[in-house]
Parts: sequence; C-alpha cells; structure tokens
Amino acid sequence: MEWAKLHSDARFNLASSGVASYPLADFVSAGWLRLESLELTAPGAYGYEPLQRALGAKAGVSPDSVVAAAGTSMANHLAMAAAFEPGDEVLIEQPTYELLVTTAEYLGANVRRFARRAEEGFRLDPAIIKAAITPRTRLVMITNLHNPSSAFTDEATLRDVGEIAKSAGARVLVDEFYLEALYSTAWRTAFHLGDHFIVTSSLTKAYGLSGLRCGWVLAAPELARAMWCINDLYGVNAAHPAELLSVIALDHLNEIAARYAKLLEVNRPIVNRFLDACPHIEVARQPHGTVLFPRLRAGESEGFCSYLRERFDTSVVP
Ligand SMILES: Cc1ncc(COP(=O)(O)O)c(C=O)c1O
Repeated sequence: MEWAKLHSDARFNLASSGVASYPLADFVSAGWLRLESLELTAPGAYGYEPLQRALGAKAGVSPDSVVAAAGTSMANHLAMAAAFEPGDEVLIEQPTYELLVTTAEYLGANVRRFARRAEEGFRLDPAIIKAAITPRTRLVMITNLHNPSSAFTDEATLRDVGEIAKSAGARVLVDEFYLEALYSTAWRTAFHLGDHFIVTSSLTKAYGLSGLRCGWVLAAPELARAMWCINDLYGVNAAHPAELLSVIALDHLNEIAARYAKLLEVNRPIVNRFLDACPHIEVARQPHGTVLFPRLRAGESEGFCSYLRERFDTSVVP
C-alpha cells in the first residue's frame, strides 16, 4: 500500500485498479444534492439508519446483517477481528490482495496459504482448499473477482467451499470488492449462501467513489453486532456528510454504474489489442473487472518495472 501511495504515480499509470473518480459536481448538476441538505453530525448509533437500509436493500439482506465500515479495508479488518482469535489458523488464497494477509497477521492469525494456479486461469479450486483445511482453521479467505487476476468464482463453487469450511468448523470471508464491477450482469452476494459466509465490499473502485469510504460487511446478526463493538475501538462513528452522500450514491447507483460500464466496454477491446501486440507477456484475459495479472515470459519484474518507468514514464505493479 505504501508503494501504491508513494511510488506508483506516472504519466501512464497502469498500476491503479479503479475507474476514474466520480465528481461531486455531477451529484449537484444531476439535482441529486443540495448543499443545505448536508449536515455535519447525526445522533451517534450503530449505523446511520438510511444508509443501513440502503446497503441492506442493495444486497437483499436485513439491515441487522449490515455493518457499515470505512471502506472494504476496515470492513475486512472488522470481519477478521470478529471471526478468529489470535493464534487461530486462517487459510488465504495465493496470490491475493496483500493487505488481507498482513491484516490477518496483525490480528495474530496463524496464516496458511492455498494456491490459485496461473495455469488454470487462477480459478478457485475447492479440492485444493479441502486438502489444506484443518480442524484448527477458523476462516477461509478469498476475493471475488479475484485480485489480482479478475477471475470470477460462481455460486456452485462458492457453495462447495462453504460446505468444506462448515464441516471443519470454519467460516468463509469473501471480499467482493471487484464483483461490483460486473455492474448490470446478474450476480448475488455470497452472503445468501448461508450464515457461515461473511462478505465485505465498498463503493470504492467500481463506482469511482473512493472518497466516500463507503464500505460494508454482511454477516449473521450476532456476528455483525460484535463487529460494531470492535468498530468502536477505531472510529466510533463515520463522518456524517459521507454517510449522507453515500445514501445519495446508493439511490442513484444504476446511473453511476451505467457510466462506468460504458467506459469499460470501450476500454476493454483497447487493452486486448494492446495485449495482442505484446508477445513478451502472457495473461489470462477476462470479460469483466478492472485489473489483469500479466506474467513476463522472461526476465524479472523489478527490472522491467524500472525500465518502463525510466524509459516510458509508465508504472505497473511489480
Ligand atoms: C480486494 C480488495 N479489497 C479491499 C480493498 C480496499 O478497499 P477500500 O479502498 O474500499 O478500503 C482493495 C483495494 O484495492 C482490494 O483490491
């Protein structure tokens, strides 16, 4: 994350994973927002009720299964802190979003990894999880879409993983951060597959709304209540203007999504044409998502990254 914050900037920045930011001015010009309707402070409670309702409606779940959090980052932190104790075993896909691993380690987990294989397009393979899980495993963690490859995991596979976890006495945490970027394509959150699933997500990347820090956890009500109490250690309450703006964004999410779905529809063939012209890298192409995980056929990535930066003012993630 430090590298992403301090060293990824370049004229041609291929190292960031989101869509362009959605401007606040467009909330105003669309007539969604009037300044006088903003307020600085709301009565403190466990969640701002209109936001709880809007997030619950979006996911098709009851608001008492929703824990609003500062981005998917805090959502993951709260979910992990409630789902295991220090010393417990946690099974995490490899490769993955680096902060899932470091957050689990920070919370004292005994982290073990299971492979998503490049030669299989990084698909999630329940058999590999079954071979790796032990009676000490409390949590299995995956991303859907997979970060970094954008591979999609369907419901049948998730259900299989859920059964494997359940019979070992573990839960499954699905970080659905990039699933939001499927936009209109029909999908349901994995939370519908049972109480042994915990889901995290946010409006950050797919809707260009990272500044709202509108994240959430979906969890069984009792576990959700534990997460709200853990959140009291960190932030107590969210910034209320951000909560109000998040409710507006959720009310108009289809319009916001349409803008970015169109953008990706135009950009994806351009990316694919570019990849066609690059014999030195191999990559599993995806029909969805905003990130790809190319592999250099020869050479090493650090040197390649420096070369791109020095010669072409271009950044990619090592
Ligand atoms: C899989 C995944 N989870 C969580 C995050 C962080 O999300 P947020 O910015 O909403 O905290 C990212 C950011 O790239 C991510 O890729």
